[in-house]
Amino acid sequence: MHVDALWTRVHLATLDGAGYGIVEDAAIAVRAGRIAWLGARADLPQALRAAQTHDGKGCWLTPGLIDCHTHLVWAGSRAGEFEQRLQGATYAQIAAAGGGIRATVRATRAASADALVAQSERRLRALLAEGVTTVEIKSGYGLDLATETRLLQVARRLGEGHPLHVCTTFLGAHTLPGEYEGRADAYVDALCDWLPQLHARGLVDAVDAYCEALAFSAEQTGRVFDAAQRLGLPVKLHADQLSDLGGAALAARYRALSADHLEYSNEDGVRALAASGTVAVLLPGAYYLLRETRRPPVELLRRHGVPIAIATDCNPGTSPCTSPLLIANMACTLFGLTPLEALAGLTRHAARALGLDADRGRLAPGLRADFALWDIGHPVELVYMLGGRPCVGRVVDGIPFSA
Ligand code: NIG
Ligand code: FE
Repeated sequence: MHVDALWTRVHLATLDGAGYGIVEDAAIAVRAGRIAWLGARADLPQALRAAQTHDGKGCWLTPGLIDCHTHLVWAGSRAGEFEQRLQGATYAQIAAAGGGIRATVRATRAASADALVAQSERRLRALLAEGVTTVEIKSGYGLDLATETRLLQVARRLGEGHPLHVCTTFLGAHTLPGEYEGRADAYVDALCDWLPQLHARGLVDAVDAYCEALAFSAEQTGRVFDAAQRLGLPVKLHADQLSDLGGAALAARYRALSADHLEYSNEDGVRALAASGTVAVLLPGAYYLLRETRRPPVELLRRHGVPIAIATDCNPGTSPCTSPLLIANMACTLFGLTPLEALAGLTRHAARALGLDADRGRLAPGLRADFALWDIGHPVELVYMLGGRPCVGRVVDGIPFSA
């Protein structure tokens, strides 16, 4: 068997199955960007010939991390709002006073594509340095056709200019832009018109909405989802973050890839997610920064067998976070996940939250050769350390990159 590259002297955590999938003193072979073989080094097929061999020097190798929920592309900063909240203002009050998402929309509309690339690249590099090989990027800070187009184009450009895979999500239904004040239904009509145009330009992989009292109702969200489904696009939802509007059940009704946040979801909603195969994406960064006290129903999600993913939710308002490993730690300390659940949430289940579980998120023959290499003694250390910088390399489609 001829392969392009072989990594030896590595320990694997395949995340393929119920546990970590640990294989110590292992090897993994890549051909044409896919995993060709993996297993204990002692079992390496005699006939295997590699064009290139990499000495893993005792590192651990896991599936590349997948950050399945980010708003990575924006302009400006909302550090002032953080200060205001520390002095007692709430997220909803700041939004009602014209700050919040609208503040970022003003800064983003004024920014050129190049300026957006420059700001966002810094955040992207931080993700790369922590072993991310696939990232989802939402629009939603434009809220007019020109700026939403620019955001999605910038997201695509980031994917072309850096060694990782970018999935784009249209989040036109993020908040009501000022020019539509009092005319939310007209805005929903408008964004349903934009969607086919954005889709025709190849800019949209999925459609998201923010269903919340300070954003869009369940009925309005349903109209956005209907428009997505007419185009055959999968949907996902910011659901039940600050109140229970039945978001989980709504997402399930549309067979959403994921329902995200879920702090206020009830058991019927969780049951519906289980039945529709929708992934629960938990976002402890936003919970932490907003100093929320209501935790997502992790025990119910487990009991009903809903796959749990976690993500940075990288955004300027509620989670200015570019560290998936810190998020994994928070998922354990704040939400009660186990370290294994947290790692599965950044790999196997995150892949499923993007509809990409057939080709990534685990280490198994035939899957995409997207890996992260770590200088650690055991996978739990990835979740345990705070700011440990354990990533020593990444492999994307079989091609190695330094961290
Ligand atoms: O995921 N909830 C809506 N969207 C973001 C916050 C966006 C912002 O405040 O800029 C979130 O938490
Ligand atoms: Fe979000």
